[in-house]
Amino acid sequence: MKGIILAGGSGTRLSPSTDSINKHLLAVYDKPMIYYPMSVLMLGGIKDIMIISTPEDIGRFEDLFGDGSELGLNLVYKAQKEPRGIPEAFIMAEDFIGDDDVTLILADNIFYGQGFTTLLRNAMKKHRHATVFGYRVKDPERFGVVEFDANQRVVSLEEKPENPKSDFAVTGLYMYDSDAPRLAKKLKPSARGELEITDLNKEYLKRGKLDVELLGRGFAWMDTGTNESLFEASEFVKITQQRQGFKLACLEEIAFYMGYMSREALYEKGKAMAKNDYGAYLLDIANREHTQQYWDGLDHNPMLEVVE
Ligand code: DAU
Repeated sequence: MKGIILAGGSGTRLSPSTDSINKHLLAVYDKPMIYYPMSVLMLGGIKDIMIISTPEDIGRFEDLFGDGSELGLNLVYKAQKEPRGIPEAFIMAEDFIGDDDVTLILADNIFYGQGFTTLLRNAMKKHRHATVFGYRVKDPERFGVVEFDANQRVVSLEEKPENPKSDFAVTGLYMYDSDAPRLAKKLKPSARGELEITDLNKEYLKRGKLDVELLGRGFAWMDTGTNESLFEASEFVKITQQRQGFKLACLEEIAFYMGYMSREALYEKGKAMAKNDYGAYLLDIANREHTQQYWDGLDHNPMLEVVE
C-alpha cells in the first residue's frame, strides 16, 4: 500500500494567515497540521508516502521531513502547479503507485479515537477496489455526502449537495486500487473548475466497486479548512492531551513503537528539543523502562507488520 498526503490548494479560506505560509504547516495546537494525517498513514503501516503541495511550498515540507528516514519512512515530494482537484494527485502519482493500492489523505483532516488503528488496518484487509470512510455530521452540505442501504452498501454520492440525502460526510481518507490514475484521467472538471474526488468515487460506484466504512460516535474527525474549525481542532488536541498526558500525532512516538526509530535516536531527538514540551515528551518516552506495559494500556498493538 502506497500513501499520498495532499497538502496543496490555495488556502484562501484562511487568508491572511495563509498568505505567506501553507495552511498545512500552520500549528494545530502544538505541531504542524500535516503531522496529523502523517500519523494516520504511519499507524496504517504505510511507509512509502508521496507528499504533494504547491511549487512554492513543497520545499518547506521537505525541510520538515527530509527523506523520512528518521521516522522509518520513504518520502517523496511532488509539486502540483495549480489546485486542479483532489483526483489529480493520482495522475501525478501514477508511476509512484505502480501496481499497488494507494491510500490518500487530505492534509487538513484530523482523525482520532480509540480503536482507530484497528479500524484502519481492518479496512485495509477488507479493501477491494475503493473504500471511503463515512462520518455523521450536523452540516453534511459542506462535504461529499454518502447515502447507503441497511447493508452498508453505497447507494449514492454527492459533492456538497444543497439537500443532502444522508447525514454522512465522506471524510478526506480514501483507499483505491491501482486503477485510480486511469479513472482519474477520464474525469471532467466540475462547475468549480476542479476534478472532484466524488466523481472518482462515483466511477467506482458505477462499477459496483465502492465500499464505505463508518466511523462511529467514539471517533473525532475534523477538517481544519476554516478559522473556526482550525481553532476547534486546536482546542480538541489541547484538552485531550492535557487530560491524558498522551500526545496526538507525535510522529517520533509512533515511529518508536512501530520499531522504526531506536530508543537512542528518540532520546537524542528529545534532548535537542528538551526545552519545549514536545521534546520533554519524547525524552519521557525514551526514558520509560517498561515500554510494553505502557502500550498495553492503549487499545492496539502497534508492533504489527507493515502492510504490503
Ligand atoms: O474534508 C473532506 C472533504 O474534502 C470531502 O468531504 C469532499 O468530498 C472533498 O471534495 C473535500 O472537500 P473540500 O471542500 O474540503 O476540498 P478542498 O478544496 O478544501 O481541498 C481539500 C484539501 O486538499 C485542502 O487541504 C487542499 C488540498 N488540495 C485541494 C485541491 C482541490 C490540494 O492539495 N490540491 C487541490 O487541487
